[in-house]
Amino acid sequence: MNHFSFWGGLCLLLFTVLNSSLAILNTPANRLMFDDWENGAHRSECIRCAVVGNGGILNGSRKGKEIDEHDYVFRVNGAALTGFENDVGSRTSFYTFSTNTMRNSMRSYARVGYRGPPISKETRYIFLPDHDRDYILMKAASTHTAIDQGPERSKNPPTYFGEDVTVEKFKIYHPDFIRYLRNRFLHSNLLKTGARRIYRPSTGAVMLLAAIHTCDQVDAYGFMTPDYTLYSDHYYDKQRRAVRFFANHDMRMEMRLWQELHNAGLINLFMRQ
Ligand SMILES: *[C@@H]1O[C@H](CO)[C@@H](O)[C@H](O)[C@H]1NC(C)=O
Repeated sequence: MNHFSFWGGLCLLLFTVLNSSLAILNTPANRLMFDDWENGAHRSECIRCAVVGNGGILNGSRKGKEIDEHDYVFRVNGAALTGFENDVGSRTSFYTFSTNTMRNSMRSYARVGYRGPPISKETRYIFLPDHDRDYILMKAASTHTAIDQGPERSKNPPTYFGEDVTVEKFKIYHPDFIRYLRNRFLHSNLLKTGARRIYRPSTGAVMLLAAIHTCDQVDAYGFMTPDYTLYSDHYYDKQRRAVRFFANHDMRMEMRLWQELHNAGLINLFMRQ
């Protein structure tokens, strides 16, 4: 199953792919996470972020309004919004994904109305690079050119991010940042096993930790809590189903980290009990 993307594959990336893709991001907007903060688009004194995972705990939560009232709203992967606004809100300032997880979400959650990344004026797209696919898609999308190789091969420029998306809307996590998160925050016991080669923090974990490193205040919603067996896997599931675990992530370790950060006052984690 290609969910198990091969982290080590980055080392094999052709230098030219990396170089030509990253050169595109060399604009002032791509230097900062909050590139619109300075122009006073927001009026609060500190940067308040809502970071929204896709957990079933959000079903019936009625947190949508509260989420949308933050300066920035972060979302991830199969973040279906239509019909779920009361519980999860409707704004998306930052959408975090890898090309692989986005395509998987489009396949798996089309049934619940997930058609692709949210598109709005404020939305920025943050790639979590785990494959040369990510650099290739980012370049093609921002330059409006077709992709002539790999699984996203297309005759026309990719339209996942809207027809007239600009380069200012794209960001990409530095692979060293992901390594730092893995080593300092989520150094799982899986690293001592055969799963070492595929293990990495989940996309949601990278999103939440990136927010913790950049926002002044982080309110996290829809992340796994110790009572997770009481909720469906996702808030948009049509039928209740148990949380699924994958061999390339350590979701229980992530859950314990969110509890620690919450108890230390570093995040405010939405819990129902
Ligand atoms: C979501 O909540 C509603 C109301 O409590 C419930 O009927 C429904 O089964 C829940 N959905 C899932 C997938 O658990």
